Amino acid sequence: MTSDLLGLTDRVAVVTGGARGIGAAYVRALHDAGACVVVADLLGEAGAALAADLGERARFAALDVTDEDRWAQVVEETVTAWGRLDVLVNNAGIANAGPIEHYPRSKWDAVIAVNLTGTYLGCRAVVPTMKAAGGGSIVNVSSVEGMRGSTHLHGYVASKFGVRGLTKSLAVELGADGIRVNSVHPGFIETEMTTKIDPSGLPIPLRRGGLPEDLTGTVLYLAGAASAYVTGAEIVVDGGMINGVGHL
Ligand SMILES: NC(=O)c1ccc[n+]([C@@H]2O[C@H](COP(=O)([O-])OP(=O)(O)OC[C@H]3O[C@@H](n4cnc5c(N)ncnc54)[C@H](O)[C@@H]3O)[C@@H](O)[C@H]2O)c1
Repeated sequence: MTSDLLGLTDRVAVVTGGARGIGAAYVRALHDAGACVVVADLLGEAGAALAADLGERARFAALDVTDEDRWAQVVEETVTAWGRLDVLVNNAGIANAGPIEHYPRSKWDAVIAVNLTGTYLGCRAVVPTMKAAGGGSIVNVSSVEGMRGSTHLHGYVASKFGVRGLTKSLAVELGADGIRVNSVHPGFIETEMTTKIDPSGLPIPLRRGGLPEDLTGTVLYLAGAASAYVTGAEIVVDGGMINGVGHL
């Protein structure tokens, strides 16, 4: 794909959780496609190092996605620096687990706050700027766990179903303003979040765990011009895992 086809040259994108893992791959891909990118994350050292490595057209912004005041500042800083904000990738996320009798309220609250409330706050923060500019693209990172039940992952599953639902309601509400809102549903991807899981035991038809780079084409597509008529869609990037494997 060329940057002309993607339509991302000189567009401005904010990627939450952009300091490492899948988010860092989104940052690099958007930057490679010609966009200006804000690496927004709790991790100051890694986020600042990534922005410095990319150089021109990259900035780090310290952000806890659950902090609504800070969200307003990040939007303002971005527009002050680059004059616009075209793309938001709500990627920051955490996971926790436990059998329901031993799954405390504190774990539930933490995962809902970051994954779901953080996504809501991000969408709410960027919409006025996107509306004023006549449009934009929001990409919300859900999961295959936002499409099915998963033992022990109660708060995570609920948060990712929530992200998927929020994506649909925003797509309907914001279409008239030219703002598209779509969700991405990764399967097993090798990052810090999944270090304890061995992908060889998973029912993945493509027979390997995913890498962060396996997600970037989808996010570039949803962020850019090739998806101009796509909103409220959900794209699964999981090596076919959600379909199972080897049924008789
Ligand atoms: N790795 C997978 O298999 C997988 C599968 C499906 C979905 N996902 C989703 O993809 C996204 C990225 O996951 P990853 O695997 O790269 O995980 P990761 O743990 O490697 O990266 C998550 C990033 O989010 C940041 N973050 C966490 N809480 C934050 C907060 N409150 N404010 C700002 N930033 C915060 C972290 O600092 C980190 O940089 C998450 O939403 C995750 O749920 C991952």
